[in-house]
Amino acid sequence: MSAVVLGIETSCDETGVGVVIGRDLAANVLSTSIEEQARFGGVVPEVASRAHVDAIGPVIDEACAVAGVSLRDIDAIAVTAGPGLVGSLLVGVSAAKGLAAGLGVDVYGVNHLAAHVAVDELQHGELPDPLIALLVSGGHSSLLLMSGSKVEPLGSTLDDAAGEAFDKVARLIGLPFPGGPHIDRAAELGRPDAVAFPRALAHDPDHRYDFSFSGLKTAVSRVVREQRIDPADVAASFQEAVADVLTRKAIAACRDHGVDHLVLGGGVAANSRLRALAQDRADAAGIHLRVPRADLCTDNGAMVAALGARLIRQQAAPTEPGFPATSTFDVHRVLIGD
Ligand code: KG4
Ligand code: ZN
Repeated sequence: MSAVVLGIETSCDETGVGVVIGRDLAANVLSTSIEEQARFGGVVPEVASRAHVDAIGPVIDEACAVAGVSLRDIDAIAVTAGPGLVGSLLVGVSAAKGLAAGLGVDVYGVNHLAAHVAVDELQHGELPDPLIALLVSGGHSSLLLMSGSKVEPLGSTLDDAAGEAFDKVARLIGLPFPGGPHIDRAAELGRPDAVAFPRALAHDPDHRYDFSFSGLKTAVSRVVREQRIDPADVAASFQEAVADVLTRKAIAACRDHGVDHLVLGGGVAANSRLRALAQDRADAAGIHLRVPRADLCTDNGAMVAALGARLIRQQAAPTEPGFPATSTFDVHRVLIGD
């Protein structure tokens, strides 16, 4: 019998609950406070926590209904224990612990970042081993070498995360929060070669796998202030610079380590130009690229359930029930307390 795993994600402003049966996605329900957050131009932690409190019960019920399972059918629960906003995380962690205790099932407190990679199994089957993961979200940009159960961080951003850069640049050109999807759409009408924005650390041997986006953001703000370039051209040129640096370094990491599988994950992996350029460059280098479909890249509950299901298949020990929610979570650890 395939295990029925409930996954709960409340690390930021989305209340996500997914159900995975075996390796199959059975439900992925999302409630978001993004419209409330957009009024403030960013995520306000207290607003996010309150929205999670309201949404968590109904979203769990709906996910079970969509999957056609009752609470009693659940074999295990996985929940994001970090990284993220502690007040938000606590809502999901408390719900998961209470439900697990009530149902008498195991609970896995997992790393949100590892879930962004594991979600790809729902679409493309078992993850290859070894692989290079390019993890790009609102809070993180990392290149990881994953081999067996080992996760080796190769590099990360020295300043802003890739998603943060999208959100800040969107604000500069007058687009709403969260900026990534809006820049993606605006860029469709712009010229990616209109402005030659800087590619920071592109050729720095001391930072071969690291990123830096704050200089790019400053360069965009200078161009916007001059008001001579069409905003769509600014969006397209900015997006091109980010996609160029991310894919160049990801392919270099694969080549240097003799790894021929690259997996993209995190909200920025939903970006259409990043996906296309990664495909072109992976094809040219003979590397197999895997990118989850866009709605699985941005935060959701199915990714947490997918990681839970993977841990169960690997016979990982469940988490001790007293585990905390944590704002920081080392990128190389998958389960809290490991
Ligand atoms: O993984 P995610 O949903 O949440 C975090 O874990 O942070 O990532 C959110 C980030 C935001 O910065 C958002 O602007 C960005 O992902 N994002 C995008 C796109 N869709 C979401 N960035 C570029 N292009 C997109 N299509
Ligand atoms: Zn995320």
